[in-house]
Amino acid sequence: MKTIDELLTDGVAGKRVLVRADLNVPLDGTTITDDGRIRAVAPTIAKLAEAGARVVVASHLGRPKGAPDPAFSLAPAAARLGELLGAPVAFATDTVGESARASVAALADGEVAVIENLRFNAGETSKDDAERGAFADELAGLADLYVGDGFGAVHRKHASVFDLPARLPHAAGYLIATEVGVLKKLTDDVKRPYAVVLGGAKVSDKLAVIDHLLERADRILVGGGMVFTFLKAQGHEIGSSLVQEDQIPAVQEYLTRAKERGVEFVLPVDVLVAAEFPDLKTKAPAHPETVAADAIPAGRMGLDIGPETGRLYASKLADAATVFWNGPMGVFEHPDYAEGTRAVAQALVDSPGFSVVGGGDSAAAVRILGFDENAFGHISTGGGASLEYLEGKTLPGLAALED
Ligand code: 3PG
Repeated sequence: MKTIDELLTDGVAGKRVLVRADLNVPLDGTTITDDGRIRAVAPTIAKLAEAGARVVVASHLGRPKGAPDPAFSLAPAAARLGELLGAPVAFATDTVGESARASVAALADGEVAVIENLRFNAGETSKDDAERGAFADELAGLADLYVGDGFGAVHRKHASVFDLPARLPHAAGYLIATEVGVLKKLTDDVKRPYAVVLGGAKVSDKLAVIDHLLERADRILVGGGMVFTFLKAQGHEIGSSLVQEDQIPAVQEYLTRAKERGVEFVLPVDVLVAAEFPDLKTKAPAHPETVAADAIPAGRMGLDIGPETGRLYASKLADAATVFWNGPMGVFEHPDYAEGTRAVAQALVDSPGFSVVGGGDSAAAVRILGFDENAFGHISTGGGASLEYLEGKTLPGLAALED
C-alpha cells in the first residue's frame, strides 16, 4: 500500500488531492457531540495542506437516501475541521455540481474545501457498478490525486471508497496506516491472554466476529442489548428486554463451541432493569433496580450490566495482555445506565495490556464519559470496519488502495 509520505516525496504542491475521510460524527441538531473522527483525520489534511496541496475533503454522514437532506449536511463537520486546522475551510453545498467545481477551482495552494455529503448522490452507495462508476468519474474530475483515509468506511464498496481510487493515483493516509497497524496486532501473533468485550444492541451484527473470535480469543465478555438473547438462549427469563429470537439457535451453538474450545464466555450476573426505556432527551431519573441476570422480572427490561458484573468483567480484563472492546454495555447516553460502560472503560485503562476500543459507539462513549483518550492503547474510528477487519474479511477500501 503506497503511503501518503511517498506522495509527499513525489510532491503535491499545486495538485488537487481528494481525501476520502470519515466525518460521520454524531450530531444533536447541528451540534457535534463527539468530534473524534474529525480530529483523527486532521493530521493527514494538515500535512497535505502544508505541502501546498489543494485539498478536497469528501465524506458521508449518516444514511441519507441518495438525495440532499439538510439533516445530514456536512456543514458542521467542515466548520469543526476549520477550527482544528486553524484555517478557513471552504464548503461546497453539493457533491460534484456547480458549487463543488467552483469551490475546488477557487482553492489556492495549501487551502482546504469540504464537499457536501457524498450520500446525497445515489451513485455513492449504489449496488450497480455502472452507477457507482459514473459518480466516481465525476468525483475524479475534482482531483489529481486520491488519499484514502476514511477508515470507518473502508468496509463499504462505495464509489468514493472503492471505485474512485482506481481512477486516480492513490495512497493511504496516516489514519488508515495507524488503524491497520493496530488491528494487525490483534490478528497476527496476538499477545495472550486475549480478551474481547462485545456490546451493542444486536447480536446479529456481532455473529460473524464472534464466530471468528471463538478460534482466536481466550475470553469473550458480553454486554449491551445483545446479552438478553444469550440469557434467553440459556433458558432464563428476560422480561421485556430486547431479544432477537431468530438468533437463539446461533447463540446456543456459540456457547457450545466456546465450551468445546476452552474459550471462556462470560455473561452478566446482574443487570439494571426498569419498566421503560429512559428518556434520552430530558435524561429524567430512571430509578432502575438491580436484579440477578437469570431472574429478570416480567415487564422489566434490562438496560445496563449491574455493578457485580462490572467488577467481574474488570477482574477478567485485569491480567489480559490484549483487549479489544466493541459496543457499549448499556444505554450509556443516560446517566443511570452509564456505569457498566464506565466500568469496562476503566478496566481497559487499568489493564497493563494493550487495549483497543473499536467502534463508533464505544469510542464516543469513552470520550463522552470523560476518559482521557491517551489512557487507551488505541481508539479506533471504525465500528463496522474494525469488526470486519477482525473477521478476516477483505475490505474494499483497503483492497482498492493496494493496487
Ligand atoms: C460508521 O459509522 O461505522 C461509518 O461511518 C460507516 O457508516 P455506515 O455504517 O453508515 O456505512
